[in-house]
Amino acid sequence: MIILEATVITAGYSKLDILKEVGIRVRDGEIVSIIGPNGAGKSTLLKTIFGLLKPRHGRVMLQNRDITGWSPDKIVKEGISYVPQVDNIFTSLTIEENLEMGAFIRRDDFSGRLAEIYDLFPMLAERKKQKAGQLSGGQRQMVAMGRALMLDPQVLLLDEPSAGLAPNLAAMIFDKIKAINKTGVSMIIVEQNAREALKMAHHGYVLAMGKNVLDDSGKALLTNKEVGKLYLGG
Ligand SMILES: Nc1ncnc2c1ncn2[C@@H]1O[C@H](COP(=O)(O)OP(=O)(O)OP(=O)(O)O)[C@@H](O)[C@H]1O
Ligand SMILES: [Mg+2]
Repeated sequence: MIILEATVITAGYSKLDILKEVGIRVRDGEIVSIIGPNGAGKSTLLKTIFGLLKPRHGRVMLQNRDITGWSPDKIVKEGISYVPQVDNIFTSLTIEENLEMGAFIRRDDFSGRLAEIYDLFPMLAERKKQKAGQLSGGQRQMVAMGRALMLDPQVLLLDEPSAGLAPNLAAMIFDKIKAINKTGVSMIIVEQNAREALKMAHHGYVLAMGKNVLDDSGKALLTNKEVGKLYLGG
């Protein structure tokens, strides 16, 4: 079953089109990775899906609902959460307050969900009273992901989760991503670390200059000669 689909998306900032008829499809339970050079429009695509940008053309469908042009606060209620590339935590708040902020629209008791997030990220539980601004890059990324998970989304959008992290911390984040996916959350991940992103992906997309270049299973893209030469370092 297709859970999320964006079709022939044309979108950009002011009058300039960045995305040109881009499409992406996520099946229920999948990790879909998007790779491509700087400026390809990867972040712009996530922003468009999440309603931060209104597409000039095209549609975004979540299951059978057309959510094109909806505001982010409405989209989040429908089950999509988004972790932006930068500025994705409240540095002056504690870890726990950050997680509580993630549940801001929940009217019910979310203590059970909070406990699940702490199970997934034990390090966050150990330091829950610490200010998020004092944390390392890898720890901040866990806070950001934990916050996005508080609403128990169907689909999680992650923009460059391993950016700026040392290899061991990046590996830890990738393990967490796989663990989150195993709980049934479908995901779109934008990554500079194309090799790792494709390794964990059920399906992958290559974007360049605002257009779809190629899409295939993660495995097939990993062994694709062109992808190897351009994005996997040989
Ligand atoms: N807020 C903005 N206003 C105007 N142009 C923007 C804005 N954000 C991005 N752009 C431009 O849109 C294009 C695509 O940017 P985008 O951030 O989507 O690329 P990306 O694939 O995520 O790149 P990176 O790998 O560097 O994160 C770039 O040319 C960028 O300069
Ligand atoms: Mg980007």
